[in-house]
Amino acid sequence: MASIPNISTLFTWALYFIPIYIFILDPLLRPFVSQSTTPSSDYNHVNDIWATSDSAPELNLVDDTLLSPEDGVPFNCPGEPAGYKVHLLSRTPLILYLENFLRDEEADHLVDISVNKYTPSIIYDGVTQKVDPSARLSDRALLDRDDTVRCLEDRARAFQGWRPHLYIERMWAQRYNVSGHYRHHYDWTGSLALGGDRLSTFMVYLGADCEGGGTNFPRLKMPPGKQWCQFLECEGEEDSSSEEQFESIDGVIPKHKPGITFKPIKGNAIFWENLRSDGSGYEETWHASYPVTSGTKVGLNIWSWYQPPKQTRRG
Ligand SMILES: *[C@@H]1O[C@H](CO)[C@@H](O)[C@H](O)[C@H]1NC(C)=O
Repeated sequence: MASIPNISTLFTWALYFIPIYIFILDPLLRPFVSQSTTPSSDYNHVNDIWATSDSAPELNLVDDTLLSPEDGVPFNCPGEPAGYKVHLLSRTPLILYLENFLRDEEADHLVDISVNKYTPSIIYDGVTQKVDPSARLSDRALLDRDDTVRCLEDRARAFQGWRPHLYIERMWAQRYNVSGHYRHHYDWTGSLALGGDRLSTFMVYLGADCEGGGTNFPRLKMPPGKQWCQFLECEGEEDSSSEEQFESIDGVIPKHKPGITFKPIKGNAIFWENLRSDGSGYEETWHASYPVTSGTKVGLNIWSWYQPPKQTRRG
């Protein structure tokens, strides 16, 4: 009798398969699946990601080196509910600015637990993982799921309305020294038709003792309302980083920064959705981290991976 692969074999396959999916298949397929803004037939099995049913999760690729499953481990969140303020920046795509999303103690704690864990950040060029300082110069640290991290996972889930099939990814702190940067990129890959994709991003600033280091979205427009100048770089403001030319995937970013640029402010976060309801990615979410010109910036990515259960095909 043919043997059935056991659980650990399946798990091992999953370990290899997820990165292959995300970093090799998707970049290759991206030109074919993410160009049009209308639903392609590749997404027919998804139809509308806001309308999928609340059936029990059947994520068979759960890998807690990548995701943070709700595993029932109890945790304690002192100081909840968090009193953050929400400001609407854009409806389509949905972009919200969250003032004091983390309390100072939480931000400091996350910086503390990351300190001894940094390794150089890598990029994926569609074939291999590599360190490429021209594209991305920073260090990153995988955070242990302690109480603070679990409370934050919980906050991120609650913020998004406890959506089914949405899994908070394991959190990484990102540290940018002087000249640290990340060229323009998307957080989505266009891989929903293959199983899952990154539905949303919280870009949180944990430490902002720095100049420069703004988060730039070249395809977004400055919102009206001068109150936004608290959070966004506004014309006429001094910013030494704009003097520097910055290598990007498109070449060199001009002195005058295109679009809008968020100032790094400790405890604050930008939240945006990466995917349309048909599963395709928003081109407006193209963003970069401008070079830090003095001091150190520490950021935290809270990514939400969306993976609906596979539909059984009827033949
Ligand atoms: C950033 O600074 C730290 C501490 O000095 C150092 O260990 C690390 O290698 C630096 N990282 C980069 C990318 O320059």
